[in-house]
Amino acid sequence: MRFLVVSRLLCILLLCFCIFFVEAQANFAPHFFDNGVGSTNGNMALFSLPEDTPVGSHVYTLNGTDPEGDPVSYHISFDPSARSVFSVDPNFGNITLVEELDREREDEIEAIISISDGVNLVAEKVTILVTDANDEAPSFIQEPYVVQVPEDIPAGSSIIKVHALDKDTGSGGAVTYFLQNVHTTKFALDRHSGVLRLRAGATLDYEKARVHFVTVVAKDGGGKLRGADVVFSTTTTVTVNVEDVQDMAPVFVGTPYYGYVYEDTLPGSDVLMVVAVDGDRGKPNQILYSLLNGSNGDFEINETSGVISVMQSPAQLRREVYELHVQVTEVSSAGIPAAQAMVPVTIRIVDLNNHPPTFYGESGPQNRFELSMYEHPPQGEILRGLKITVNDSDQGANAKFNLRLVGPGGIFRVVPLTVMNEAQVTIIVENSAAIDFEKFKVLTFKLLAIEVNTPEKFSSTADVVIQLLDTNDNVPKFTSHYYIARIPENAPGGSNVVAVTAVDPDTGPWGEVKYSIYGSGADPFLIHPSTGIIYTQPWASLDAEATARYNFYVKAEDMEGKYSLAEVFVTLLDVNDHYPQFGKSIQEKTMVLGTPVKIE
Ligand SMILES: *[C@@H]1O[C@H](CO)[C@@H](O)[C@H](O)[C@H]1NC(C)=O
Ligand SMILES: *[C@@H]1O[C@H](CO)[C@@H](O)[C@H](O)[C@H]1NC(C)=O
Ligand SMILES: *[C@@H]1O[C@H](CO)[C@@H](O)[C@H](O)[C@H]1NC(C)=O
Ligand SMILES: *[C@@H]1O[C@H](CO)[C@@H](O)[C@H](O)[C@H]1NC(C)=O
Ligand SMILES: *[C@@H]1O[C@H](CO)[C@@H](O)[C@H](O)[C@H]1NC(C)=O
Repeated sequence: MRFLVVSRLLCILLLCFCIFFVEAQANFAPHFFDNGVGSTNGNMALFSLPEDTPVGSHVYTLNGTDPEGDPVSYHISFDPSARSVFSVDPNFGNITLVEELDREREDEIEAIISISDGVNLVAEKVTILVTDANDEAPSFIQEPYVVQVPEDIPAGSSIIKVHALDKDTGSGGAVTYFLQNVHTTKFALDRHSGVLRLRAGATLDYEKARVHFVTVVAKDGGGKLRGADVVFSTTTTVTVNVEDVQDMAPVFVGTPYYGYVYEDTLPGSDVLMVVAVDGDRGKPNQILYSLLNGSNGDFEINETSGVISVMQSPAQLRREVYELHVQVTEVSSAGIPAAQAMVPVTIRIVDLNNHPPTFYGESGPQNRFELSMYEHPPQGEILRGLKITVNDSDQGANAKFNLRLVGPGGIFRVVPLTVMNEAQVTIIVENSAAIDFEKFKVLTFKLLAIEVNTPEKFSSTADVVIQLLDTNDNVPKFTSHYYIARIPENAPGGSNVVAVTAVDPDTGPWGEVKYSIYGSGADPFLIHPSTGIIYTQPWASLDAEATARYNFYVKAEDMEGKYSLAEVFVTLLDVNDHYPQFGKSIQEKTMVLGTPVKIE
């Protein structure tokens, strides 16, 4: 381009020379005045123009003259590749700006001005300087500003450096920075360097705010633009992403935790799942679960999933309620256990009430228990011969039942009255007198176990059969306390007088009665030891005149010498022609008791 201009210039000069030589004597070339720097007319030497000059302004006047005084005309031209920013009035030389100037794009304009007297033309190349006006705003470079900052950076730490450029020169191009919301932010900005810092005394907290948007303003120093003082500013946003650092313990979610194991739960089944999350949500660590205590080996937890499983069949679980403590441990990326947390977990073994209480003997379930015992055991004696246990294989309230003894009342009692799960059944003598072989040879009771708190009220019974054994607990007992007899005085020796009867309900020899008589009045009489018939001595000859009344004792004695006494009154009758006669009442008594009596 330049070459072209130069070559064109050379052509023009050559042309001038030719003209000069051809018409040397005839004419001189015109020329511009050089009015120096700062002048607005002349040859545009060192002419400069502010970029904010309005289009249409008269900015300069070309001024020249012709030696012959011929009128001159002015021209201005531009390189074809450049804009034509000026026009010139050919007669007066006044130059008008016809295009907007922009120093930042084009800070000097080259043009060729020429002057002609109609014969000679003189051209000159000029450079017009475009001077700055404050027409540019600062502009941030390297946008967007996004920065990751760990939440634990110390106050005062520098975070990022922003940089804005203003293409203007001087004050209009001098950028300073500040924050839009100085008072509401945790940050501070250096006005000259553009360095953003965490303000002194401020902290970042990922858990409270994961990102901060900081509005930064860049401002130039101000300058003239079209006659006015202007300041340009630009804003940008710095995005401060807060990075989580390990500062929060893991947290269990969905608490409290309750689990249930049912009777039909299979060993290895899942019971419940606990879930913990790292309190540091941003970069969560791996989490591992473990059982701290309370499981008694009956439960396990999956280290990674938090699923708690039961390892035993429910029947083998020893407790109704398990209070486990589950621990969760964060493992840092370096594999080091970091924060921990703990949570209680309650697992209840839920029993389906499907077992009635059951009586057991020594060799398994049994519903009849037998025992032989002597009558009249001491009060409070325990029937040790009965080895009865009772249990209900359910659990908790389902295994609670009452025991009752049903049968003749007041004789025995059963302990305990209320059973949880299992008990030894004890039967205790309550009324010794009532346990009488002579009344009952066999005592039969029913043991009843019945659930207390279940809707089903499952129950079961067992027979308790007690065979009583006799003891010599009775003394022979006369049918009356006294016996009265009347016999004729002439009755021969060996005559029956009266039959006494004593009864001993004991069995065997204990019930066999031996009679004897004694006392001062007994001499004329004998008694048959086994029948109780009293008769006169063979030798006796009774005389009513001598002794009209006899009085003695009769003794009934069993094998062990237990005895009782009755009194006998015998009256001799003076009447010879009447048979001896028993009182009606005596006959009745002997008849009623049914003992053999010989009456004559
Ligand atoms: C041109 O320049 C001459 C010499 O400096 C001056 O006298 C004259 O006034 C100028 N003409 C105009 C129109 O400014
Ligand atoms: C140049 O100046 C003269 C005299 O002041 C004026 O008459 C003329 O209109 C101007 N030309 C332009 C193009 O402004
Ligand atoms: C289990 O551990 C926790 C925490 O150490 C404790 O509070 C609790 O009493 C423990 N339970 C048992 C049964 O040891
Ligand atoms: C724990 O649970 C995970 C996920 O369900 C499973 O892949 C893994 O096999 C389990 N671990 C054990 C020991 O059961
Ligand atoms: C009930 O007692 C029987 C016999 O003693 C025993 O086999 C069984 O295990 C017991 N059941 C419970 C739940 O204790």
